[in-house]
Amino acid sequence: MAISIKTDEEINLMRQSGHLLAKVHEELHAALRPGISTLELDEIGERTIRALGGIPNCKDYEGFPASVCISVNNEVVHGIPSSERILQEGDIVSFDTGLIYKGYHSDAARTWGVGKISDEAQKLIDVTRESFFEGIKKAKAGNRLHDISAAIDKYIRPHGYGIVRELTGHGIGTSLHEDPMVPNYRKLTRGVKLQKGMTICVEPMITMGSRKIGWLEDDWTVVTLDGSLAAHYENTIAITDGEPEILTVI
Ligand code: MF3
Ligand code: CO
Repeated sequence: MAISIKTDEEINLMRQSGHLLAKVHEELHAALRPGISTLELDEIGERTIRALGGIPNCKDYEGFPASVCISVNNEVVHGIPSSERILQEGDIVSFDTGLIYKGYHSDAARTWGVGKISDEAQKLIDVTRESFFEGIKKAKAGNRLHDISAAIDKYIRPHGYGIVRELTGHGIGTSLHEDPMVPNYRKLTRGVKLQKGMTICVEPMITMGSRKIGWLEDDWTVVTLDGSLAAHYENTIAITDGEPEILTVI
């Protein structure tokens, strides 16, 4: 499938969608505390999305049963919210969610600590977020897509963390997942040329130990095989003539 190039009018709609999603993430973060279940957090996320006039884009996506993917500790992504999963002080939690507004998708992920967490866990979270910002420094018209990938890889590598390869970022627009795929590791190819009007999700998924992952019996939850912690940070961005615009922050 060809990469869709959005008009300024479409970018404006994606910005509206993204700004609503930023509010959803604020609500999720504010609700996070020891003792809350991941199902309660999903309900808060879904309620907020709908109250803002959006439609959750995770719900029923290929059968996913909830509006927010909530992944705890060694869970990397696509954790299924559950009333039995009660968060405890020291856990780290990734929220990955998105919505549709006026036909346009937005998608973003954040990892947070619950109460006080270890310095090592906080560093993993911080470095994961920083790698996103390093990557998007290369997200300029005329550069190549894999310049973003290589910049993330270069930033992560000295920390000795693992970079998940099986899952990547992606184009986004009137569909949640559009071309191109956006890898978080260095490729031997350059990738497509970036141009104004491309909208992509850049989403490093980083592990404290080995990058090797597996799937739980529920067929959704992605976990590190060595049990090490994982963090995720994602925004929907637009390529412009100048600096990229992050659509999912306010
Ligand atoms: N937002 C996530 C992504 O882009 C998850 C969506 S798929 C889901 O991959 F089914 F897990 F919700
Ligand atoms: Co995504």
